[in-house]
Amino acid sequence: MITKNIKKKFSEHLDLSHSYWKNLLKKGDHVIDATCGNGNDSIFLARQVLGKNIGSLSLFDIQIKAILKTKKKLSQNLSLEDFNRISFHHQSNENLFSSKNPLVSLIVYNLGYLPGGEKTITTTKKTTLISIKNALPLLREKGAISLMCYPGHKDGKEEEEAILDFSSTLDSSIWSVCYHKWLNRLDSPSLIWIKKR
Ligand SMILES: C[S@@+](CC[C@H](N)C(=O)[O-])C[C@H]1O[C@@H](n2cnc3c(N)ncnc32)[C@H](O)[C@@H]1O
Repeated sequence: MITKNIKKKFSEHLDLSHSYWKNLLKKGDHVIDATCGNGNDSIFLARQVLGKNIGSLSLFDIQIKAILKTKKKLSQNLSLEDFNRISFHHQSNENLFSSKNPLVSLIVYNLGYLPGGEKTITTTKKTTLISIKNALPLLREKGAISLMCYPGHKDGKEEEEAILDFSSTLDSSIWSVCYHKWLNRLDSPSLIWIKKR
């Protein structure tokens, strides 16, 4: 129970990613949530970029349950005008795209399984790597990919390692790649930030 409470309180990884996103985004930007899940990241992103008929958000998830939950959350918390600028895609993020503009400012991945859902339906290193490779050409100058990894379980660790291996090889004259990890917290989530220079 105590462990559960401690785990529950650990949200610094989300604060960190949100501060990166906030710093990068402005109203009118085009963004993609590649793993919309329960819609928490989506609502944060929507609030950064949508307004006065500008900006767009494209959402992906392989689970219809996640798409419907996110849709509900967004419709309850946004104006109809802003809600209408969001596109929902019940499909794998392997071939992601932006519905309003080919060039996007930010693509967000929160990896792993749907909190409160089926733990066997999870992102995999194979599909995530395909997705990242297809995501890179979609970024505008100074645009970024944000990947929250969960290496606390075996598949999550392998996925993180595969992303680290791949992103370490990106040409440093074009890409700036950064890795954040809590050193005194075993198996904590980590953030990989890939930015176009
Ligand atoms: C950790 S959850 C995302 C949490 C979410 N961003 C939020 O704020 O609530 C991971 C999600 O990735 C989805 N997913 C797994 N593989 C996927 C894939 N290939 N393409 C798109 N979504 C995927 C899962 O269905 C799950 O909903």
